Amino acid sequence: MSATRARSEWIVEALAMRLEASETQPRAQCLYEALRGWIQHGELASGSALPSSRRLAQSLALGRNTVLAAMDRLVAEGFVVARQGAGLFVAALPSPPQTLSDTPLSPAAVRLSRRGQRLLDFCATLSTGHRAFAPGVPALDRFPRERWQRLLRRHQHRADTRWFDYSSLGGVPALREALCDYLRLSRSVNCRPEQILITQGAQQGFELIARLLADPGESAWIEEPGYGGAQACFIAAGLNVVPVAVDDDGLQPEAVPPGSPSPRLIYVTPSHQYPSGVTMPQARRLALLAAAERHGAWVVEDDYDSEFRYTTAPVASLQGLAPHTPVIYVGTFSKVLYPGLRLGYLVLPEALIDDFRRANARLHREGQYVVQSALAEFITEGHFARHVARMRTCYRQRQAALREALASALAQGLELSRGQAGMHLVARLDSHDEERRLVEAARTQGITLSPLSRYYLQGPGEPGLVLGYAGADEAEIARAGGWLSRAWLEKI
Ligand SMILES: Cc1ncc(COP(=O)(O)O)c(C=O)c1O
Repeated sequence: MSATRARSEWIVEALAMRLEASETQPRAQCLYEALRGWIQHGELASGSALPSSRRLAQSLALGRNTVLAAMDRLVAEGFVVARQGAGLFVAALPSPPQTLSDTPLSPAAVRLSRRGQRLLDFCATLSTGHRAFAPGVPALDRFPRERWQRLLRRHQHRADTRWFDYSSLGGVPALREALCDYLRLSRSVNCRPEQILITQGAQQGFELIARLLADPGESAWIEEPGYGGAQACFIAAGLNVVPVAVDDDGLQPEAVPPGSPSPRLIYVTPSHQYPSGVTMPQARRLALLAAAERHGAWVVEDDYDSEFRYTTAPVASLQGLAPHTPVIYVGTFSKVLYPGLRLGYLVLPEALIDDFRRANARLHREGQYVVQSALAEFITEGHFARHVARMRTCYRQRQAALREALASALAQGLELSRGQAGMHLVARLDSHDEERRLVEAARTQGITLSPLSRYYLQGPGEPGLVLGYAGADEAEIARAGGWLSRAWLEKI
């Protein structure tokens, strides 16, 4: 449909609504006032075509004379011009369109809610961009786009009509079944397909958890340093976020001062702590579960990138450690496939399934069913496993390229995390000043350096750099890594 035709449809629809809303007003007057108002306020721009009077009469079930009366008046008053053989058009008005206020609202005049303000104060910047060294960005250039497009087309073509409707199934059953198999086998997650709730990414899962399981003012323990996305959800839900120090074994439950309020939620990334990269060993996992049980808290296990493990076998999930752990397992396809897909999932304890499914359908509405069913086939046909295996090799090579690019600096004492897993490395720096200087200088080179200190909620935090290596190819890594190595050696 052309833009002019579409616009003409909207005008007819808007007029129909106006006529219905002011039933008692004479029809010609109502038409005239509606069109004049839209022209004066700029909703109908000068020069735009109006539907013909015949079309209006037909579509609005009005007499042709009624429409002509309104149009003649608009023409007579100069709001509309009739062009011979071409139809009716909005006239060019001599004065600018009048709006309620002629000064736009300035951002400073906007009053945000206290929670909203806290959220925005907390996430001052958002890193974007598919370049070295943006953290969390997968190899978008290696995604099997054609295969995925074919699958999407096929599923779109044969989609069940119910996939176009409102629904509250918790996600397409085929996807939940495929995921359940995958999680049981490769992540040792203890689950049935019914326990899986498909969400729009991990982020929506965190939001649901925060809103459904904790009241404003209640506490959530988070890792320090930790993942800003989850923290943002907890802050936006009005929770009191309590940073808990991370050591070489992950979050230390015993580091919370005695007498602190019991948490309702404990957020952890035990397989690959974000951003430090440490893995939580068994003893700490058991201590964490014991602390959760003591406090009556839910553990939120964010397992965002554990498919990418390079030196050891995948680490089993915390959720599957015992039959009835108080753990909600959060997964995402953002790292294994691509973030714009916006698909993730929760594995819920039996007692939470129904409440979460209903609340999700109420709050966010479910959707993307065609994409979900294509993804189910992507998994069951083995494309997912092959893609993960290919990406594991690719990321191992990209990490090696980064180490090689930084070789001179490493030889002179630059300290890098071990990089046994995941998509980023952490470089330790001596001071915040050095961190700031490097971040600023890198920006002028088109290189994204994420300051480690920004991952801390409290205090100055440790200085360093979080270097995502998955999203850039080896040539770009060599260029950006070479620059970083020189900049670090020259103490830029
Ligand atoms: C620690 C962590 N968890 C989860 C996610 C994924 O979030 P989402 O599924 O909302 O894209 C990310 C992405 O950067 C992350 O770094």
